[in-house]
Amino acid sequence: MKRIIIAIDGPAASGKSTTAKQVAASLGYLHIDTGAMYRAMALKVLRMNIRPTDTEKVAAMAKDTTVRLVSSNGKVCVVLDGNEVNDEIRLPDVTNMVSPVSTVPAVRTLMVKEQRAMGCDGGIVLEGRDIGTVVFPDAQLKIFMRADARERAIRRKKELEERGVTVSLDVLEQEILERDKIDSEREVSPLCKADDAIEVDTTHMSIEQQVEFIVSKANTIINAPQ
Ligand code: DC
Repeated sequence: MKRIIIAIDGPAASGKSTTAKQVAASLGYLHIDTGAMYRAMALKVLRMNIRPTDTEKVAAMAKDTTVRLVSSNGKVCVVLDGNEVNDEIRLPDVTNMVSPVSTVPAVRTLMVKEQRAMGCDGGIVLEGRDIGTVVFPDAQLKIFMRADARERAIRRKKELEERGVTVSLDVLEQEILERDKIDSEREVSPLCKADDAIEVDTTHMSIEQQVEFIVSKANTIINAPQ
């Protein structure tokens, strides 16, 4: 059976993570949340008290940092310099720091190298901002997800509340729009749709509908005659 690479890109809170995880589970593929890797880097920047705009310091720090995604008991753990940081990387302070940190070219080079090593044999669903354009431009299936900013803020609020964090909807929407702007306007690997990606507007779609859509596209490719 062909084991393909599925690239899912899109802006913050567009529905990528939950959908990508379920698509991977349905196909028996590995799920790689590349945003989690950039978040781990941002966490270290925060811990070291480095200004995210100090690109030289961030680049020097990145060279001495390892970020790995390790699969254990069906769960993927984010490991920063040998320690699991799954919960910490979701804290609002990290979320606010991650977009500027991910603009630093040295950070991107390291992350992209790691992502390519994990995905080169196929059988993988990677989600992020630059998977279909930069990390795996030859991925057999590329999806670009969009959703209204308000709807994305509602989703983020729910997700944070499940972790016991309360933030107002307006603040979240504003933060999402700011991250969209930084992610789309940065010089290196900006967030953009690959020409051959299928665009999916998830504003009015349930997770089940999103998963069904992508899995059906994947199965068409997997079952096509060689
Ligand atoms: O998917 P997320 O919201 O957890 O991503 C966090 C940040 O990481 C996002 O604001 C931009 C950055 N990112 C990136 O630059 N490239 C990726 N492939 C994934 C995420």
